Amino acid sequence: MPKLARMPEDHIYQAYGIYLLRSQHRLIRRLKKRYQPSVHGHKTWSASFLMMDYLKDRPIKKGSKVLEIGCGWGPASVYCASRFKAKVTGLDIDPEVFPFLDVLAELNDVSVKSKVSRFESLKGKQLGGFETIIGSDICFWDSLVDPLYKLINRAFKNGSKRVIITDPGRPTFYELADRCSKKFKVRLQEWYSVEPDRFEGEVADISLK
Ligand SMILES: C[S@@+](CC[C@H](N)C(=O)[O-])C[C@H]1O[C@@H](n2cnc3c(N)ncnc32)[C@H](O)[C@@H]1O
Repeated sequence: MPKLARMPEDHIYQAYGIYLLRSQHRLIRRLKKRYQPSVHGHKTWSASFLMMDYLKDRPIKKGSKVLEIGCGWGPASVYCASRFKAKVTGLDIDPEVFPFLDVLAELNDVSVKSKVSRFESLKGKQLGGFETIIGSDICFWDSLVDPLYKLINRAFKNGSKRVIITDPGRPTFYELADRCSKKFKVRLQEWYSVEPDRFEGEVADISLK
């Protein structure tokens, strides 16, 4: 874990070996005056802790290329860059999330590339360049099921090896997992994280059959 220049400081917390900032932290408060993510990317969602816990148990290869789709503030991206020295790109439809991701990355002494794009627009070739694609709490509307299913198809067709999605257990997530299971190997499991608090949900670990 990187050393912080000034500790202790209010509203910083740790989970799975990375530092995170609460909404009350002075940097976050300042960023929120200028940037207002509008598609739910306004905080660290608990499904990202499920991702960290799951990857601790079922890790990705050191140094591998990872794409986080719907990254928001990117806590899972930062975790992959820190723990696995992964080369991570965080992707989000909402450009306003990236200043928050940049601060988290800086705080943890890692770098995460950012890309503004929607799930629908990512080409197969772009996706296939990433061995692993992760996403936490990204399938929260009916209208997201189809674009995500198609994205997963394009990714596997072009060389990706693993797509991992964590979720609190929304019906739309189960629908996505169900559609994927007709074509791919889907390991769907209940999971819980224990840092910074206990949080329960689901993980779909998807690969080629
Ligand atoms: C509930 S937040 C989860 C953020 C982050 N993964 C986390 O766990 O903290 C969902 C994120 O998905 C992004 N998003 C929603 N629809 C999208 C789309 N069609 N393409 C790309 N990103 C999208 C939102 O901007 C938001 O940052």
